[in-house]
Amino acid sequence: MKGIVLAGGDGTRLFPLTLATSKQLLAIYNKPMVYYPLSVLMLAGIRDILIISTPSAVPIMRSLLGDGSKLGLNLSYAVQDEPRGIAEAFLIGADHIGGDSSALILGDNVFHGAGFPELLRRTRDTLDGCTLFGYSVADPERYGIGEVDAEGMLVSIEEKPARPRSNNAITGLYFYDEQAVEIARGLTPSARGELEITDLNLAYLRQGRAKLVELSGAFNWFDCGTHDSLLAASQFVQFIEKHQGERVGYLEEIALRMGFIDAEACYQLGAGMRQSNYGRYLTEIAYALD
Ligand code: DAU
Repeated sequence: MKGIVLAGGDGTRLFPLTLATSKQLLAIYNKPMVYYPLSVLMLAGIRDILIISTPSAVPIMRSLLGDGSKLGLNLSYAVQDEPRGIAEAFLIGADHIGGDSSALILGDNVFHGAGFPELLRRTRDTLDGCTLFGYSVADPERYGIGEVDAEGMLVSIEEKPARPRSNNAITGLYFYDEQAVEIARGLTPSARGELEITDLNLAYLRQGRAKLVELSGAFNWFDCGTHDSLLAASQFVQFIEKHQGERVGYLEEIALRMGFIDAEACYQLGAGMRQSNYGRYLTEIAYALD
């Protein structure tokens, strides 16, 4: 399975924060935002990952993450010059996917919950059609909204409905079988000129092969597209780390836990950043996890 992090867009709802930088490079507490979605793909066991971003942000992402080899990953980069829709990721990423199945994650989505790594691996291993993840929200008109039958199969999806049929927001993490590129190629742009991810999902729904896994209340999900959600996500990560002693989005630790790198590599990556709590933490756990 191949991974894609879609980290483009103009971030206009975050102006002036994003006038001169990319949203996905802003901080969520102590790490760049892009670390969080990248960590989700790594937890799913995906190592071959394409990062799509704007012409100005791709060079910065590349200097931040490199070719991924330090994390035991194979990272590549592609430019989306205009935000022409989330589903365009499958046209830009067609060669990267190369007939394989894929997981797409939006670069501003933060996920955290007990059992998430196991859920991701189960989703990957049992994929048939597409699997999306639902999360109950108070403001459903801001999201793609799904309705499911008793078996958890999607029976309707609506993008930002004025009168939502449920509170079940479809989060920005999508698993697809090998048909996604072909389906994306057949999509027509919406009234706002975008290739909509909802239209791609509807194609799977019509085949009766679109599943929605509901993330329970013990789970937390943030789409960091506004000033308030950006701060809420930072406060959440700070709370989890300071009060619960759990860690979220430490790429080097995840690489070690997943067996992508060894303890010495993790230790050295931490030692290179030992002036920060982030780096010191890596040096402390590297051999303890071994
Ligand atoms: O976060 C979950 C929601 O994401 C879903 O519930 C919706 O169904 C889905 O359409 C999307 O809604 P948003 O309103 O958040 O979409 P937005 O246009 O803000 O794009 C989401 C992210 O994807 C954002 O960080 C920028 C990036 N993006 C978006 C587009 C349209 C790109 O990189 N390129 C694009 O062309």
